[in-house]
Amino acid sequence: MTSDIPHPHVRFVDVVKEYPGRRRLFGLRAGSPDTAHRALDTVTFDIPRGSVLGVVGYSGAGKSTLVRLINALETPTSGSVVVDGTDLTRLGEARLQKVRRGSGMVFQHFNLFASRTVAGNVAYPLRVAGRPRAEVEARVAELLEFVGLADKARSYPSQLSGGQKQRVGIARALAGAPTLLLADEATSALDPETTAEILRLLTRINEEFGTTVVVITHEMAVVREICDSVVVMDGGRVVEHSSAYDVFAAPKTDAGRSFVATASKGAPTPEALQRLRERYPGTIVTVRIDDSFGSPDVTRILDRHGVTGTVVYGDVAEVQNRPLGTLTYELTGESEAVAAAAAALADGGRATTLAVAGADEVAA
Ligand SMILES: Nc1ncnc2c1ncn2[C@@H]1O[C@H](COP(=O)(O)OP(=O)(O)OP(=O)(O)O)[C@@H](O)[C@H]1O
Ligand SMILES: [Mg+2]
Repeated sequence: MTSDIPHPHVRFVDVVKEYPGRRRLFGLRAGSPDTAHRALDTVTFDIPRGSVLGVVGYSGAGKSTLVRLINALETPTSGSVVVDGTDLTRLGEARLQKVRRGSGMVFQHFNLFASRTVAGNVAYPLRVAGRPRAEVEARVAELLEFVGLADKARSYPSQLSGGQKQRVGIARALAGAPTLLLADEATSALDPETTAEILRLLTRINEEFGTTVVVITHEMAVVREICDSVVVMDGGRVVEHSSAYDVFAAPKTDAGRSFVATASKGAPTPEALQRLRERYPGTIVTVRIDDSFGSPDVTRILDRHGVTGTVVYGDVAEVQNRPLGTLTYELTGESEAVAAAAAALADGGRATTLAVAGADEVAA
C-alpha cells in the first residue's frame, strides 16, 4: 500500500517543500542567516485511485501544504508530485491549470461568495471555464439535487446553516466533475450531527463517482468513519501510512497513538481504574476486541470457567466495516476459576489483568 501500487492516482516521491525564512518573507535586511522553513520533509507515499485518504497531524505538521501540492497551488522545492501519471513539476502553467480543474477543493470556512446565490456559487467555476449557459444551468441543477439543496438555489449563503453552506461548497467543488476531491478541515466548523451528514455525502461521492477523496482532519472519528487509509504527519514528515484499521489497531508512533487515543477509550487510565475499583470489587480484566475475537468469544471462555463477566468500561467501533475496540470486564466467581479464566483470556497477549479481587492493583 505504501509506494508500490501500479497506477496510483497521486504519488509523492521525496517531496520537500520549503517556505522562505522570515527575512525574505518580511523583506528584512541581510545579516543573520535566513533559514528556510521546511514544511514538508522528504515525503514519499501513494494515494490509490478511488480511495478515501485521511491526513492527520497537529497544527503546522504540513497537512495543508501536502494538499496544496496535489492540486498544484504550490510547487515542491525538490522531489516530484505525480498525478494521473504526470509529474506536475514538469508542467507549464497552461497544463497546470488543467490539472487544477481535475481536482475539487472544499474548505473549513466554505469560502462562498456572499453576494452570489447558491446556484451562482456552484455555477462560478463553470462560468469561469467558459461553459455555455444552458449546460451550466443543467449541471448546477443536477449538483444541487445531488447535495440535497435543490430548493435553496435562489438563497444566499447568509440564509443557510453551516452544513448547508458546506454542501454548497461541495457542489461547487464537484462542478467540473473532478476525479479528486480535497477537503481541508471540511467538518471542523460543524457540529457532530452535521459532520456526520457531510461525511455521508463525501462517502457517496466516493462510491457513486469513484472519486478519490483526501480529507485533512484533526478528528480521528472522521478517519474512523470514512477513510480507507491514513497518513499521520509530524513536523513535515509522514510518520505513519497504513490502512485506517491498522492505524487504529496498532498505531506505530507517538503522534499516531495520541490521535487514536482521542477517538477510542482503550484501557482505563490509572484514575479511571481507581474509580472502577471503588465500584467493582471483582477482578478487572481488559480485553482487545477485533474481527478475530469479539465479546461472544470472551463470554464463551468465561462460561467454560463458570465465571461471570460484566463490561464496566470501554467501547467497540467499526473501522472499515470491521469491529475494533477494548472492553474492560469485572470477573466474579470462585477465585481460582476467575484466575484461570483471566489466564485463558490473556493467552496470546489479548487481555491484561488490571486488578485482582481482594488484592491491590496488579498492573496499569
Ligand atoms: N505560505 C507560507 N509561507 C511560509 N510558511 C508557511 C506557509 N504556509 C505554511 N507555512 C508553514 O509551513 C508549516 C506547515 O503548514 P501547513 O499549513 O501545511 O500546516 P497544517 O498541518 O495544515 O496546520 P493546521 O492544522 O494549523 O492547518 C507551518 O509551520 C507553517 O507555518
Ligand atoms: Mg492546515
